[in-house]
Amino acid sequence: MEKREIKSILIDYKSPAELDDKLQKLVEEAKKAAETAYAPYSKFNVGAAVLLENGEIIQGNNQENAAYPSGLCAERVAIFYANSKYPNTAIKSIAVTAFTQEGFIKEPIPPCGSCLQVMLESENRHNNNIQVILYAENKLTIADSISQFLPFNFNKEMLK
Ligand code: THU
Repeated sequence: MEKREIKSILIDYKSPAELDDKLQKLVEEAKKAAETAYAPYSKFNVGAAVLLENGEIIQGNNQENAAYPSGLCAERVAIFYANSKYPNTAIKSIAVTAFTQEGFIKEPIPPCGSCLQVMLESENRHNNNIQVILYAENKLTIADSISQFLPFNFNKEMLK
């Protein structure tokens, strides 16, 4: 028996003011995206903003449905749209945040497993790490790659 320890590195900041202008804008775009989410059931409005290598920012938000599983998370709405509009353009960063009836979340929320898997595919497809920026009022957490969340992941290499 051999035990394997897998480490992840996440970097915390106090506020977006500590980030460069481009990333501050990305966080702002994620916050704006949350405003137009369709989340009447959970009342948990999530916003995502994707920064492409061509400099364009694409927003997405969660889209819920009375048939609950038919809805989609903000991250996947943004990433699928980015990859459908620019199939050959890598995603550099994604900012994610959310608000409830009590205002913006206080602590960062990590993307769900399905969204992480979709982001991982996008990284592999374009051979480019995606930086993840999780904004909350009290803290901002940054990871330099999806592998920080999914260090032991299923990918196309396993289909060989
Ligand atoms: N949600 C997201 O949009 N992104 C996540 O990473 C986690 C959850 C949405 C799905 C649903 O509309 C609501 O948040 C509550 O789960």
